[in-house]
Amino acid sequence: MEKVRFTEEKATMLATLYGRALDARSARPILGDQAADEAVKQIDYDFSKLGVTPDMGLTVALRAKPMDEWAADFLRKHPDATVVHLGCGMDSRVHRVDPPPSVRWFDVDYPDVVDLRGRIYPDREGYRTIGSSVTDFGWIDEIPSDKPGLVIAEGLTMYLRPSEGEELLRRLIAHFPQGGEMVFDTFSRLGIKLQKLNPVVRKANATLYWGIDEISELERLGLTLVTKLDATDYATPEAKERLSASMRAQLWLVGLIPAFKKMGRILRFRF
Ligand SMILES: C[S@@+](CC[C@H](N)C(=O)[O-])C[C@H]1O[C@@H](n2cnc3c(N)ncnc32)[C@H](O)[C@@H]1O
Repeated sequence: MEKVRFTEEKATMLATLYGRALDARSARPILGDQAADEAVKQIDYDFSKLGVTPDMGLTVALRAKPMDEWAADFLRKHPDATVVHLGCGMDSRVHRVDPPPSVRWFDVDYPDVVDLRGRIYPDREGYRTIGSSVTDFGWIDEIPSDKPGLVIAEGLTMYLRPSEGEELLRRLIAHFPQGGEMVFDTFSRLGIKLQKLNPVVRKANATLYWGIDEISELERLGLTLVTKLDATDYATPEAKERLSASMRAQLWLVGLIPAFKKMGRILRFRF
């Protein structure tokens, strides 16, 4: 068992890991991420204190699913691409997407987070981790720039200061002269204001900073929107039936109010 002691934004990755483990244990999993379940069993931590409910397990899996599909779609078209997976936490996405060894895949998170990854997950060809804050931009020099790039960041942008997040995206766009795609989720400014209603953020004592209301705020950095999923778009009807009645009621309310719909979005861009 690996004993861990993470706080604030780093602790939130234990909640999303646990959410995927709950999904894997459910009768009809969305992601079926057995590696997440195995990882939870190997980590000596009281996961019950994170406030993760079965509803949350389902929504974490529903958020990850389109991101996995978009990544796989890009890598089918660019089997020699370079992937940068930012704020990877304990996400075993590289194992779920399972790219060919011709793809170079970099998982980036704080040093103690990638250290834990190294103790839990097996190594694989073409795969490397980088232990750094994503906003200490020196790590970008370690990434080859001779192939198209795929940048993935799930549950990360909201933890960055707006100026740092924008600078990060600008630098990554400039780093891949052959272009590529970016896949990430965002919170709106209202989502940032209401952050303490999110039990995972509250219990981890994490702070969210970067709210994005309009796609144009990202397009002006050099991105072109490919697909946008609002909070009400990514739960399939079958998945909605499995949510609790109160969560279904919340989703229904969110669907009625445009400001709520953009509180949490999943976005796919090209550059
Ligand atoms: C909500 S978790 C998401 C983890 C993972 N993407 C997932 O979906 O399970 C947020 C992650 O972002 C990482 N993170 C936040 N700010 C960061 C920064 N400045 N540099 C590197 N990682 C950061 C945290 O360490 C944590 O792993």
